[in-house]
Amino acid sequence: MIKPRIQEAINRQINAEFYSNYLYLSMSAWMESKGLSGMARWLLAHYEEEAGHAIRFVNYLNERGGRVLLDTIDAPPTDWDSPINVFKDALEHEYKVTSMINDLVDIALEERDHAASTFLQWFINEQVEEESTFKEIVDKFELGQEHPGFLYMLDKELGERQTVSIANIADNQ
Ligand code: FEO
Repeated sequence: MIKPRIQEAINRQINAEFYSNYLYLSMSAWMESKGLSGMARWLLAHYEEEAGHAIRFVNYLNERGGRVLLDTIDAPPTDWDSPINVFKDALEHEYKVTSMINDLVDIALEERDHAASTFLQWFINEQVEEESTFKEIVDKFELGQEHPGFLYMLDKELGERQTVSIANIADNQ
C-alpha cells in the first residue's frame, strides 16, 4: 500500500502532466493559426507524449493500490507573440517540470519508498531528454532566424515528427 503523502504527490504530478498536455495543445493550435503546420504537428506529438506521462503515473498509482484523484486542470496561455517564444516558454515549462520531478524523488526518499524512487528514475532521464529537445529547437531559432526561409525550413523539419497513439504511449515511450 502506498503512503498517503506519496499518493498525494503523484496525484499532483498527474495534474501537472495533464496541464503540460493542455499547454502543448494550446501551443499547437496557435502554430496552426499562424500557418505553421509543421510546428503545430510537432507540438501535437508532444501533447500526446504528455498524456503518456500522466498515464504512466496513473498506472503506477493503481498498481501500488493507491487512488487516482483527478483535479481541475488550469487553463494554459492561448497567445504568443512569436514562434520562438512558444518554444522558449515550453523550455521554461520543462525546467519547472524537472524541478517537480526532483521534489517527488525527495518525497519518495524521505518516506523511504524505494520502489517509487526507482519508478521515478525513468522521469528523471526523460526530463534530461525533454530539456535538451526544447533547448535544441530554441538554439536553432536563435542561430537561424535572421536567414530568409529559416521559418519555412524549420517548420518543414519539425513537421516530420511522428505522432503516436495515446493508448500505446505510456508503455512505448
Ligand atoms: Fe511530462 Fe514534458 O514533461
